[in-house]
Amino acid sequence: MLLRVNDLSAGYGLLKVLWDVNIVVNNGEKVALIGPNGAGKTTLLKTIVGLVKPFNGRVFFEGEDITDIPTYLRVRKGISLVPEGGRVIPKLTVLENLLVAATTKEAKEKLSDTLELIYTLFPILKERKDQLAGTLSGGEQRMLAIARGLISRPKLLLVDEVSLGLAPKVVTQIYEVFNELSKLGITLLLVEQYVVKVLKSTDRAYLLEQGRVVLEGPSEELLKNDYIRKTYIGE
Ligand SMILES: Nc1ncnc2c1ncn2[C@@H]1O[C@H](COP(=O)(O)OP(=O)(O)OP(=O)(O)O)[C@@H](O)[C@H]1O
Ligand SMILES: [Mg+2]
Repeated sequence: MLLRVNDLSAGYGLLKVLWDVNIVVNNGEKVALIGPNGAGKTTLLKTIVGLVKPFNGRVFFEGEDITDIPTYLRVRKGISLVPEGGRVIPKLTVLENLLVAATTKEAKEKLSDTLELIYTLFPILKERKDQLAGTLSGGEQRMLAIARGLISRPKLLLVDEVSLGLAPKVVTQIYEVFNELSKLGITLLLVEQYVVKVLKSTDRAYLLEQGRVVLEGPSEELLKNDYIRKTYIGE
């Protein structure tokens, strides 16, 4: 077991957004987190990386309780978040965006190796390495954001809103990269609105509604689930 979220409640100020959430991500798995707007998916990812402090509950990574440690230490332990909208620094080049993301000792030591890996996964980023990130297409920016998430050589990569605003072809490319990452032993937790795609591309899934896990199981089974089909696939 790589990640375990235990009876987690979290929110903002007096607003409770997550209610007794329990989630497990095993080593090497691809796990989907689906749910409507406002369900708390981003909040859950932020709590896992320590950007939101839980009201209650614990977060374990590789068996260790990380609930109270700061974000940079979680990154060092091997958790990386690609945020919603995948931020890049527009006024820096593609290469500079990658270089400044290498903040940990391990990231710096492995930098040339990691860059090679990134350029193999995303050949377009190699072609565009000296271009200002702000002038990249939406799809290229998304790829750069994911690449930045890989700079710290994570064991667990969390990706928020994988395909939001992207053309189908780019979405397909990105999911192919996820398959490659999976083969390299990187575990994935993916937040996605494109329910069919993510359920076809992952091992297990959780459905979050109003801050609660209301359904979980093998992605294959959730894809056949009547409630999911009616509510999230529009059948
Ligand atoms: N910084 C914040 N301060 C106050 N409330 C917030 C904050 N961030 C999120 N919320 C609220 O928490 C709830 C859950 O938001 P969250 O962003 O986690 O949902 P989500 O499932 O990621 O939604 P979406 O699919 O739209 O991205 C929403 O009601 C939102 O308004
Ligand atoms: Mg969100």
